[in-house]
Amino acid sequence: MTALAGKIALVTGANVGIGKETAKALAAAGARTLIACRDAAKGAAAVEDIKRASGNPEVELVSADFASFARTRAFGDEVRARVDRLDVLVNNAGLMLTSRQLTVDGHETMFQTNHLGYFLTTHLLLPLLRAAGRARIVNVASTAHRGQALDLDDLDSARRFSPLGTYGRSKLCNIYFTYELAGRLKGESITANCLHPGVVGTDFGQKERGIFRALVRLAHPFMMSPAAGAATQVHLAMSPEVDGVTGQYFDKKRPVKSSRESYDVATRERLWRESERLTGVASFGDGA
Ligand SMILES: NC(=O)c1ccc[n+]([C@@H]2O[C@H](COP(=O)([O-])OP(=O)(O)OC[C@H]3O[C@@H](n4cnc5c(N)ncnc54)[C@H](OP(=O)(O)O)[C@@H]3O)[C@@H](O)[C@H]2O)c1
Repeated sequence: MTALAGKIALVTGANVGIGKETAKALAAAGARTLIACRDAAKGAAAVEDIKRASGNPEVELVSADFASFARTRAFGDEVRARVDRLDVLVNNAGLMLTSRQLTVDGHETMFQTNHLGYFLTTHLLLPLLRAAGRARIVNVASTAHRGQALDLDDLDSARRFSPLGTYGRSKLCNIYFTYELAGRLKGESITANCLHPGVVGTDFGQKERGIFRALVRLAHPFMMSPAAGAATQVHLAMSPEVDGVTGQYFDKKRPVKSSRESYDVATRERLWRESERLTGVASFGDGA
């Protein structure tokens, strides 16, 4: 299959799990595929695996740590130095933590990695997506957003932290971000969609100690494989069926309604302004 021959794709968090399977599928479809990973050794091993599995030698590693604004910006510079356009961006890197931990920038780690990471990455790479003529942005969210409401005065969960609550709110941010982004990109040939990949047996939550890790591990045999879990984001990244479709939340390759909360336009606009302020973005999409 060479549906993406001549195209350039970038997948974040692609050294394992759903991201790695996504990168394999895009590379197998012929795309020059960049994977953004924080660990050089794991990333280098993944590049070899993805090359082997896809039969495509054009797979490259870019170093990125989305829990650091400086490292995210350095990653943006590196990508812009390597390619002159980008056809597909899959914001996938994410994590779940069972305790409240702060990043080097002083933010709660899930909020910064899972939401501000997507926001800043997209901002930095938008000039490349525009240069492609037609491009797709795919934001990996989660059904865990359901039942959550955002407290814009406590985005870092200083007053209210819980592993599932704080994680779920970071995934609600992914949906707000996608809907607002799609609106702002109206009139351009760039689509932005988000999705729930399914409940997938990956490394997700496995770096945490205690009962959570044990429970997830016990459930692994009943979860989808990472390859099956990648299906919806691969569909959004390359299927002609979703050509021109934008501003939607997908599950099992179908557009579905996200939570009622996620359609609150005032909250999503405030989150956007807050995200600009926190990431130091003066004019979204200019890449600076
Ligand atoms: N698994 C599920 O059931 C499920 C369900 C709904 C949504 N999701 C979403 O799917 C996406 C992928 O998750 P997964 O299940 O494939 O989990 P995973 O196997 O743990 O993979 C997560 C990836 O994100 C990377 N990552 C985490 N923090 C990072 C950082 N600060 N900088 C750069 N990379 C970072 C990880 O790198 P390291 O290997 O270095 O940690 C890894 O490559 C996430 O956005 C998650 O929220 C998963």
